[in-house]
Amino acid sequence: IFPPMNYRPNYHFSPSDGWMNDPNGLFYLDRVWHLYFQYYPHAPEHGPMHWGHATSRDFLHWEEQPIALFPDASRYIFSGSVVVDHDNTSGFGDGTRPPVVALYTAHDALKAKASGATALGTETQALAYSLDGGTTWAHYEGNPVLPNPGIRDFRDPKVIWDAERGRWVMVLAAQDRVHFYSSANLREWAFLSEFGAGLGAHGGVWECPDLFSMRVEQVHGEPPPPDAELKWVLLVSLNPGGPLGGSATQYFVGDFDGTHFRPEKKFSRPANRSGEAVPPVFVSRAPSRQALDIMRSPYAWLDWGRDNYASVLFNNAPDERRVMIGWMSNWDYAKKLPTAAAGWLGQMTIPRQLILANTAVSGYVLKCHPPEEIVGSFDPTRRIKRAGTLNFDGPLPKAGIAPIATLIESGQLDLTKAVITVKVRQMTPLGCYMFLLCNEDGEQLEITHHNGIPGTPVVINRKDSGDCEFSKKFAQPDAVAPITPIKEVGLHCSEANFMFVLDRTSVEVFLNGGERVVTSLVFPKSPYTMLLYSADVPDSTYAIDANEISL
Ligand code: FRU
Repeated sequence: IFPPMNYRPNYHFSPSDGWMNDPNGLFYLDRVWHLYFQYYPHAPEHGPMHWGHATSRDFLHWEEQPIALFPDASRYIFSGSVVVDHDNTSGFGDGTRPPVVALYTAHDALKAKASGATALGTETQALAYSLDGGTTWAHYEGNPVLPNPGIRDFRDPKVIWDAERGRWVMVLAAQDRVHFYSSANLREWAFLSEFGAGLGAHGGVWECPDLFSMRVEQVHGEPPPPDAELKWVLLVSLNPGGPLGGSATQYFVGDFDGTHFRPEKKFSRPANRSGEAVPPVFVSRAPSRQALDIMRSPYAWLDWGRDNYASVLFNNAPDERRVMIGWMSNWDYAKKLPTAAAGWLGQMTIPRQLILANTAVSGYVLKCHPPEEIVGSFDPTRRIKRAGTLNFDGPLPKAGIAPIATLIESGQLDLTKAVITVKVRQMTPLGCYMFLLCNEDGEQLEITHHNGIPGTPVVINRKDSGDCEFSKKFAQPDAVAPITPIKEVGLHCSEANFMFVLDRTSVEVFLNGGERVVTSLVFPKSPYTMLLYSADVPDSTYAIDANEISL
């Protein structure tokens, strides 16, 4: 039996001990990426929250640092953000290095206990600062910098520098909406406006917002020029109320004039050319009605899987890079994950680079892609390339999908830490094809592209992926992401591409260059060692490009 300690990911950050949830205070300074996180070091459970700290220079190796912020009974350190105060607007600087300033939610556990759960007024916004680049911190004596106006869930400040107006802007979750505030010095905050009541998904409490501007991509795959159209993106996590139940992150694209955020009328609705599903000619397992409903969700989701929550961006990133990290879990089952037996719980997604595209079918779409540091870390001498065509001899199988090609045999590539890009051309408009990531214990993660159905959903089924017993909510429902085939090459041929970012206990699937992303935790008994490809149509051409991440 594969002991739980081997569930430790290779290059996704996880704390050595204890519990971790949201990423906090992400920032970049002096060639170092800083990641703070919701942390309870004493047990793998959500306890009095600290801010843990880790750093990386390359997004692949993370070094755990001493704990940054400690709680006391009347102040649990909930989520928040960090800015680099280059001009010392806060006045905390000592003239040597710019102060690094954290705005976080102080959650008063004593008050909460006295009046039940998260009572009104338990959450205020507080400030801490560091004069050594983020290692050691002092709490500001004038806390709170933003008192509670009588709102139950009032938390997770994200602060950004509004260069156009030369001031700081804070976006804060206030139960079922977000509030915007501005400040000249990070210590005094003035209310600007609110957004979101009655707009977007509201199946749960709004949490961990983020606000940032982006230039719109002009040519697919190329960085936008400096004069490209500028749009603002607002991210809002909510729990519960995600498309698959539990936690998820939605986004809005629009404009921010320094005071108000106004969403575009049309953005990122899944392409859905016609309503009803056309029954596929030959599919072993048609997507369920539930999956089709999920695919038609009217909201814009950052990730169509279940395991990417509270995603926020790095502040002060070089070259205006927009890079984010999410907590790779879901409140539906986060507390029950089997790694707890080894004393730790929680891991982050890989950092993701954002692209904002304006598409003919869906309007503005926020795409994400593994950053250069990860996809570019391939050792060219170890790169594996394969290509082939699946040809059936004789009649097609009547039921079930036959495993037709083993693309990567066991041992050739270490699938516990690999990036695999597969391009598929399929010569008939109906049917489906499927990838299986499997091990020798008969466990498998199924990724099926039903490209004969409107919306052409990709369905990811982890019912047989490994240990699913720890929570009824883990294996169901299937994750489903609608995609647009990249190329409609004539009437009977379409092309799509898949990038699988694999680590021991997770599979992040980037579809069509990041048009959609599906993040899934998996807990197989032994690592997946094979990737199988199969199709239910006679002519299907695949090309694979794979390598393991060098650590
Ligand atoms: C989101 C969240 C935040 C809160 C933190 C507490 O997962 O609920 O809203 O600040 O976790 O750990």
